[in-house]
Amino acid sequence: MFAGKSIISINEISELEIIKILETAKKLEEMPDSKKEKLLADKVLATLFFEPSTRTRLSFESAMKRLGGKVIGFADPKVTSASKGETVHDTIKMVENYADAIVIRHPLEGAARVASEATAKPVINAGDGANQHPTQTLIDLYTIKKTQGKISGLSVAMVGDLKYGRTVHSLAVALSKFNCSLYFVAPEILKMPLHIKAELAEKGVEFAEYDEIIDVIDKVDILYMTRIQKERFPDPLDYENVKSIYILKKEMLKKAKPTMKILHPLPRVNEIDMDVDSTPYAHYFQQAANGIPVRQAILSLVLGAIK
Ligand code: CP
Repeated sequence: MFAGKSIISINEISELEIIKILETAKKLEEMPDSKKEKLLADKVLATLFFEPSTRTRLSFESAMKRLGGKVIGFADPKVTSASKGETVHDTIKMVENYADAIVIRHPLEGAARVASEATAKPVINAGDGANQHPTQTLIDLYTIKKTQGKISGLSVAMVGDLKYGRTVHSLAVALSKFNCSLYFVAPEILKMPLHIKAELAEKGVEFAEYDEIIDVIDKVDILYMTRIQKERFPDPLDYENVKSIYILKKEMLKKAKPTMKILHPLPRVNEIDMDVDSTPYAHYFQQAANGIPVRQAILSLVLGAIK
């Protein structure tokens, strides 16, 4: 089902395949270390990060090492030959000789697709510009399932930078496969892109757009906060105008459902007050921790160690 497969876009992963990844993650999370520490013993993972990352790079590396695999890669593209002008295609033609699977993050939309077309080895998209971040979405779905007991039929609000935030693009598409109701809270200049809304409408997904968090707080099972993506604004003045538009505060949670959870792909800047962290709603650090079993599942499946 997955062996040798690249993970580039959530659109290309079926509901059944998503369920298989989430079930594999659960099995790996529950498996004793002694049973899984040699699962990827003869495998090498290359991590190519052409954009900054803390969670994605480190959790992929930790996931691989905890399964007995090895990791090569770099954290700073300035020390690679990309800085001399080498293309993604040529970089991958080299790296495919050094590794069994390749994780790539790149500022250009479509770069992971270009990488996957240059090699028969599995390529995993760790974020391509403002396009998609499919493995983050699998972590989000795993976290939603763990906290709510299900994914189907839930009400999910996405708040903040819905234009440049790649995690919400992947998540909206993924939730469209699970009959969820979606609430998009964003200022005019950061609304969910038209092509995603058109895709949701075509699939008959229920979604609505709002201006304020307070308008949705009592309606949702998941409140998915996002950072305003400063690095993707062509005009810094536009960023200045919206950088503090949504700040979730503890007192805003009074009408939330008792089971509601706040997620955030992180990093956070100022969009969630630190006093929210100690409420029972805050679940973003546990969400980040789920990166290990979910990325272990993805690596084990695409490398054929688990069928
Ligand atoms: N969620 C996420 O992609 O975090 P990093 O940018 O730190 O990898």
